[in-house]
Amino acid sequence: MEKLSASPVTTGKNLYIESYGCAMNLADSEVIASILQENGYKTQEEEDNADIVFLNTCAIRENAEDKIWNRLQMLKAAKKHKPDLIVGVLGCMAERLKAKLLDQNQLVDLVVGPDAYRDLPGLLAKVDDGQKAVNVLLSREETYAEIAPIRLNSNGINAFISIMRGCDNMCSFCVVPFTRGRERSRDPYSIVREAEQLVADGYKEVTLLGQNVDSYKWTSEDGSESVNFARLLEMTAQVNPNLRVRFSTSHPKDITDEVLHTIAKYENVCNYIHLPAQSGNSRVLKLMNRTYDREWYLERMSRIREIIPDCGISCDIIAGFCSETEEEHKDTLSLMELCQFDFSYMYYYSERPGTLAARRYPDDIPEEVKKRRLQEIIDLQNQISRDKNAKLVGKVFQVLIEGDSKKSTTDFKGRNDQNIMCIFPKDGVHRPGDYVNVEIERTTTTSLIGRIV
Ligand code: SAH
Ligand code: SF4
Ligand code: F3S
Repeated sequence: MEKLSASPVTTGKNLYIESYGCAMNLADSEVIASILQENGYKTQEEEDNADIVFLNTCAIRENAEDKIWNRLQMLKAAKKHKPDLIVGVLGCMAERLKAKLLDQNQLVDLVVGPDAYRDLPGLLAKVDDGQKAVNVLLSREETYAEIAPIRLNSNGINAFISIMRGCDNMCSFCVVPFTRGRERSRDPYSIVREAEQLVADGYKEVTLLGQNVDSYKWTSEDGSESVNFARLLEMTAQVNPNLRVRFSTSHPKDITDEVLHTIAKYENVCNYIHLPAQSGNSRVLKLMNRTYDREWYLERMSRIREIIPDCGISCDIIAGFCSETEEEHKDTLSLMELCQFDFSYMYYYSERPGTLAARRYPDDIPEEVKKRRLQEIIDLQNQISRDKNAKLVGKVFQVLIEGDSKKSTTDFKGRNDQNIMCIFPKDGVHRPGDYVNVEIERTTTTSLIGRIV
């Protein structure tokens, strides 16, 4: 991918971006840094002495937004010492609350939604003129396809590549279709060029990002060529055999056998699928508008196990959705038992204004019941993860070294193909970015501990 040229002008202003929420937001922050660098702003990795602070926000659950309100209070104090500090709220919460963010907080200068980042230089100029600036227009076409992201807080080994934007699914609990607009797929050739550039820069692993990667579909302007997700995965895998390819998120209704066969076929496409079930009960799934039922989910699961026998599988689960009975909650626990997920992201239901569920169904499960059900789900997942990991003692995995382990500078960390974190002592020979074989000696709920062999 073509690198953006060094900026001809510099504003002399330094920008600091703080990202919240999912990987799409991290990827967007790298696009934002690139757009602003072109216009003479330098992105720095610490807040100190920044002239502009952007919060790239998430709106998925109420507590995600609470975090931002608290952060804005803290920034208010910072602004007392530095009155010309510019504060911007970007991303999903900006899109959801729009100009309301300006009314409620004297502090915010700029509100920009996920499809309006190209307008940032103009909006910042407006703020310089003493005005407040807002652009929350959603687009049907914007994919920032040709913008070369500036990698932020990067280890130089793993990178995200955004392959599509928005979501057309309308799960009843979910705010994403409202904050990110209609689904659109990015030109596959620009995705391949980005992967090639990453390889040239020494990166070893890419994760292809979309809310529902299985519905990726790109058609050339003249209609002569069409690329689906299986084909895109193949094109990315062929960039370089030493580049690991991961992807997220798959949707149970859309994941095809063709995709599974592509994962099985390419050594460098990791055997790992994040396949959110949300619930194990068919009536709840129907209320959630997930458009599959328990049987369908279990069928997809057995196809994965059949085509990719050693596949790592993780899940997202919501506890205490509207009207969920105790029996229906138990169906979620039994689905987890049947599927034996390696790990899960688990939440209790948080009503989001404007969503289908908020308009149609009362949020009628008391908070203490939601929390108790969530705890049962977490306890079960921990037990499954612990038991599954314990069985891996003695096994040898290929691991990509990502850097020092969290707890010790004498240990490395890195993930195996199945996306499980491995910890092992440094051997003085291998370095971050190298592939090593690690023999597992002991395990915990979340990681495998071993040594390089
Ligand atoms: N596109 C992905 C999920 C994106 S949001 C998918 O379809 O799986 C990430 C996760 O947040 C969801 O899978 C869901 O488990 C959780 N989530 C979304 N909305 C929520 C809400 N209103 N309350 C609680 N959890 C929610
Ligand atoms: Fe939300 Fe459903 Fe789209 Fe995922 S697939 S982003 S849960 S609407
Ligand atoms: Fe949050 Fe937006 Fe991602 S709501 S989870 S940052 S798409």
